[in-house]
Amino acid sequence: MKLCIALDNPTKKENLTLAKELSEYSKDLWLKVGFRSFIRDGREFIVELKKMDYNIFLDLKLYDIPNTMADAAEEIAKMDIDMFNVHASAGEKAMREVMDRLKKFEKRPIVLAVTALTSFSNEEFKKIYANDIDKKAIEFAKDAYNAGLDGVVCSVWESLEIKKHTNENFLTLTPGIRPFGENAGDQKRVADIKEAKKNKSDFIVVGRPIYKSQNPKQIVEQILKELK
Ligand code: C5P
Repeated sequence: MKLCIALDNPTKKENLTLAKELSEYSKDLWLKVGFRSFIRDGREFIVELKKMDYNIFLDLKLYDIPNTMADAAEEIAKMDIDMFNVHASAGEKAMREVMDRLKKFEKRPIVLAVTALTSFSNEEFKKIYANDIDKKAIEFAKDAYNAGLDGVVCSVWESLEIKKHTNENFLTLTPGIRPFGENAGDQKRVADIKEAKKNKSDFIVVGRPIYKSQNPKQIVEQILKELK
């Protein structure tokens, strides 16, 4: 199981300070660059993080018509990105087209599909997708698996079931992690490290419990110890 830290700080300076502070562990760590950072700081920011040898997960959750998604995927693959994601609800055809487009790259990034956002309650989810989260998350995961993606983004509570319905090597990346039972914030389906391990999560995503902490390095060290 690997640790992926969400770099959701309000400024580039704060994100870089955190990355520098943790750089001795960079080869073991994944940094998640999301909308906020990427819109504001762009590719230059990625280059700066790569100089420190971090693995980068570009969390842009692509959702569009198949050709536009494949175009975006191609541009992402040209950057030094190790992993990115798309929305499974864009459909199997769009996901297939993304994977087809990436075939020309000798080394392509890992591609994940978002199933259900971890901030959804079942009621909220049902209003949009007319199905229960656990059922629909598995359907989305099967679509992603059939389209040739490497894995999905899901909550810890769907990880095992998704592997059972696809393949045990099909990756699960699970946000909503509160490593040692910290405050959930707006996340609804949270879990701690022990639960993530039990449910065979491949990557845990931790944001606020690290970047809002007084001593992020200490928390990261504690988490890495637990992951061994
Ligand atoms: O601060 P926290 O640990 O809740 O951060 C979780 C991160 O994971 C955020 O950057 C959020 O955008 C992202 N994420 C999520 N649920 C998903 C996909 C991504 O919380 N399904």
